[in-house]
Amino acid sequence: MSEPPETVGILGAGRAGTAFARALLRAGITVDIASTRPPRALQHHLKIYAPGAVPVVAEDIAERARDSSGLVILAVPQEELDEVDPAWVAGTVLIDATNTWQDELLPSWLQAAVDEQLPTSMALAGRFGSAQVVKALNHIAHSEIDDAARPDAELSQRRALAVAGDDDAARGLVMGLLVRMGFDPVSLGALAAGRIMEPDGPLFNRPLRREDLLRFAR
Ligand SMILES: NC(=O)c1ccc[n+]([C@@H]2O[C@H](COP(=O)([O-])OP(=O)(O)OC[C@H]3O[C@@H](n4cnc5c(N)ncnc54)[C@H](OP(=O)(O)O)[C@@H]3O)[C@@H](O)[C@H]2O)c1
Repeated sequence: MSEPPETVGILGAGRAGTAFARALLRAGITVDIASTRPPRALQHHLKIYAPGAVPVVAEDIAERARDSSGLVILAVPQEELDEVDPAWVAGTVLIDATNTWQDELLPSWLQAAVDEQLPTSMALAGRFGSAQVVKALNHIAHSEIDDAARPDAELSQRRALAVAGDDDAARGLVMGLLVRMGFDPVSLGALAAGRIMEPDGPLFNRPLRREDLLRFAR
């Protein structure tokens, strides 16, 4: 696993994005966070849900991340992904924390993947081709993150979270991040393996340990 990062970007300041931010901040990691709102309009929201996170414009996320950890977490609903400019995350390791919900009207490129039962992260990797996409952090509910992230606990006592990605270095960087946040990351291998992390899969919203996760991953 790689050295822990210093600043991580988050796109999306809703339930998931702010929960990720709180866990990162508790671990001593600086957080840049962006939504559709200008930074000034985000300030009050962040004071309540992620005190200490730095509101930035989405267009600046990649540049600021590239100067530091290189990591950006994507926590925008999938139905909004056509509004996320791939240039905003160019050159980053993009953690795909998104999920498909039945009532969402998806962008056509994503709906095509869902119709073919392909892993949604693979469609995202095509869409955000100038980033290294790694699937992670999607299969834990926002309401569980504050308690489940336990950086002071032994790895064996922590909640296990899966990581899938095609690039070994990018996957290692994300695993290092999850360790620092207080989880026990388990590599599933290539991005396609992330299919079992999706809402209809066996890992979704289940409080698993490493040994459980490895069993499901087979
Ligand atoms: N909720 C969970 O427990 C959970 C856990 C893991 C993963 N996820 C996944 O994470 C994603 C987000 O879920 P959520 O529950 O956090 O949704 P949410 O509470 O509705 O928040 C969505 C956030 O995305 C922002 N956003 C929308 N369009 C955007 C754009 N074009 N550019 C930048 N930001 C944009 C919104 O901005 P504004 O604030 O300006 O409206 C909002 O901050 C979903 O795919 C979900 O499946 C959710």
